Amino acid sequence: MSMPKAATLFVFLSAALSVRAHPPPCLRRQGAATQLIVDGRPFLIRGGEVGNSSATHPSHLEPAWAKFKALNLNTLIVPVYWDLIEPAEGRYDFSTVDELLQQARVSQMRLVLLWFGTWKNSMSCYVPAWVKRNSRRFPRAEDRTGAPQEILSAFSAKNLRIDEDAFAALMGHLRSVDGARHTVLMVQVENEMGMIPTARDHSAAANRAFAGPVPAALTGYLASHSGRLDPGLQSVWEAAGGRRTGTWSEMFGDDPAGEEIFMAWYFARYADQVAAAGKMEYPLPMYVNAALIRPGYAPGQYPSGGPLPQLFDVWRAAAPAIDLFSPDIYFRNFSEWARRYDRPGNPLFIPEAQPSPETSVNALYAYGACGAIGFSAFSIDTVAGRTARCLAASYSLVAQLQQLILAHRGDGTMAGLLPQGAEELQPQEVRLGNYRLYAAFEHKAPVDKAGAGGGTDGPAALSPAGGLVIATGPDEFIVAGTGLTITFSSMLPGVTAGILSCEEGRFDHGAWQNILWLGGDQTDQGREIRLKPGKFTIQRVTLYGY
Ligand code: DGJ
Repeated sequence: MSMPKAATLFVFLSAALSVRAHPPPCLRRQGAATQLIVDGRPFLIRGGEVGNSSATHPSHLEPAWAKFKALNLNTLIVPVYWDLIEPAEGRYDFSTVDELLQQARVSQMRLVLLWFGTWKNSMSCYVPAWVKRNSRRFPRAEDRTGAPQEILSAFSAKNLRIDEDAFAALMGHLRSVDGARHTVLMVQVENEMGMIPTARDHSAAANRAFAGPVPAALTGYLASHSGRLDPGLQSVWEAAGGRRTGTWSEMFGDDPAGEEIFMAWYFARYADQVAAAGKMEYPLPMYVNAALIRPGYAPGQYPSGGPLPQLFDVWRAAAPAIDLFSPDIYFRNFSEWARRYDRPGNPLFIPEAQPSPETSVNALYAYGACGAIGFSAFSIDTVAGRTARCLAASYSLVAQLQQLILAHRGDGTMAGLLPQGAEELQPQEVRLGNYRLYAAFEHKAPVDKAGAGGGTDGPAALSPAGGLVIATGPDEFIVAGTGLTITFSSMLPGVTAGILSCEEGRFDHGAWQNILWLGGDQTDQGREIRLKPGKFTIQRVTLYGY
């Protein structure tokens, strides 16, 4: 693939001419929260991830940037394909990456890059042909019967070495073309790693490792964190006898749950070494993403050993170079999964979310309830109709509120509101300062069927409901979202909460602009505030006590 000359010139000139003195994007603790710092300031990702094949040719994405802007994205999440950047061993071609950088910069958009390296959704479909064709040199994982899989084995130093080399070359290239511009914010290492269709690799090297001792780095971690481990890991360890040392089956049993812990350790060590090799060249924040578990599935039936909640401790002990564990949330119980990844030391970043009209309110929940540093809908280049309209409207609110959201992350003054089931019968309660807020959700049938495409985006779909609320003062709240009716009660003894004022408005460069004062029927004569369904709005409400 030859690199377009204009693109090369653009990328290198812009890198050379840049006078920005800021260090590369990083994650840094500031006050109550870990922030993604970009050019010296906290940054909130309003993202979309393109389809898997959409960045294989520069011309494919080019017409879509206007749409990404219209969706109010500030960051595009895009794969980098090992087979395209290293078509022959040691010969690199970064033309697709350079063209992508150029397109993003023209559109004033940031990027998160996905390293489709050794694994993509468990499989090794993006390894170069010279790797695929040489299983003797680059061994594959095997199932219980010894059948080789289309999955490179995590137990091969040669597999690891070529991935490290390619990833380091990519990061070195990024440093040289983007080290001063910071178009790229973070990098995902591999994609949805996990063993399938058996819970562990049964190749000869894997079997030897399984029969060997659990590494001291893990046994030491377990001993020093006992009682504070994820309950999933703690219970498997205790059920096997809670031993302090031993082989993998002695410490965790030899059923699929124990085998998954073994795989998690070796996947995590592999990803850690790939990430560390990349960071040596250019130390951007790096994360891994997880394919989540369908209810009732056992290890081996889902990609096993990835950065799943019950395996966080194993990943933490094994992979210090990985900064974040991220969920790809395609299930309807969005809030439950989001909360499971919002843990101390693991700020929430959702690189993939199911695209549907509900994505819009799921995003508001992720920022509001979990202080997410970023959210991204999958297949953003194909979203259309109501999904696109709802997401654009929701991201517009997030863009207006971003300074407030960033300032309130992690300090207990912000909440998310999202129906917790198909039917939310009781109002949802959140406590902020001296007030309890009770949110009821209201959906409405869509009137505009122009974008109807069947499924959840189709004519039968109801408009989504949900949002976020920020306590901006002892008696003042900013509420953003759609389909919400909120009543308030004071937690001070003997005090009844009343609405002093309520207004609809917008933020313009951080400054509040009134659109309409709301009273009378719009607040049910001072009893509640209501953000109508079918529209994404912001209201500012001030309360008082009597
Ligand atoms: C999750 C993967 O990480 C993505 O690359 C893509 O394959 C989606 N699933 C498809 O739904």
